[in-house]
Amino acid sequence: MKPLIIANWKCNPTTQQEAKRLFNLVKRGIKSIKNTEVVICPPFLYISNLKSQISNLKLGAQDCFWEEKGAFTGEISSLMLKNLGCQYVIIGHSERRKYQQEKDSMIYKKIEAALKRGLKPILCIDKISQIPSFLRKRGGRRGRSPLRPKKDLGGVIIAYEPLFAIGTGKPCSIEKAKKMRLLILRNLNKNLPVLYGGSVNSQNARDYIEKAKFQGLLVGGTSLNAQEFIKLVKNVSQT
Ligand code: PGA
Repeated sequence: MKPLIIANWKCNPTTQQEAKRLFNLVKRGIKSIKNTEVVICPPFLYISNLKSQISNLKLGAQDCFWEEKGAFTGEISSLMLKNLGCQYVIIGHSERRKYQQEKDSMIYKKIEAALKRGLKPILCIDKISQIPSFLRKRGGRRGRSPLRPKKDLGGVIIAYEPLFAIGTGKPCSIEKAKKMRLLILRNLNKNLPVLYGGSVNSQNARDYIEKAKFQGLLVGGTSLNAQEFIKLVKNVSQT
């Protein structure tokens, strides 16, 4: 698998023009990079105006609702995202757990909805107990998933995002991140890709891939600075 870099723009930027500008700068900057997949996750309302013809730049969303349509004021469904051209969706980010009080049970329903529509869910966790039971090895600690999924769950991507590292400028040490990656893998019932997220920048990005062996990165703050983000992607592509 190519290294996967997910740009989580969070609630930024504040205008459509700025969003287009940032997207187009990144698109131009990474055009010649073939061995790294980059996914931009903008706020929902910018998605339909961002288009990429280049194969290594994809679109994702920062959340989705578990129902497809109906009386759910303010929600955006996985079907809507799929119809807009999204291929990925971040689910269970710690900021949603904190500010929207998202619970594991809601997060697992969102994963199921995303898989049903062919979106690749990126499940954010900061501890092993947040791994849903349907992804856990038998005999391990049980998650609280209400799901009994019928289909293959191979499409799930796990993102290890330690709370202390998110948006703080204090990244997790390579040694600790490496240990957590192995622990996550030991608890999974199949070999899923594991990404690292938390204060990733153009200087430290490569080490998480090369030394800690993550399959990719979830990048917040740095993804809003086109030049730094392009540098980050280039550094990763040289691994
Ligand atoms: P950060 O955010 O890169 O700004 O630390 C990462 C994230 O929240 O996914």
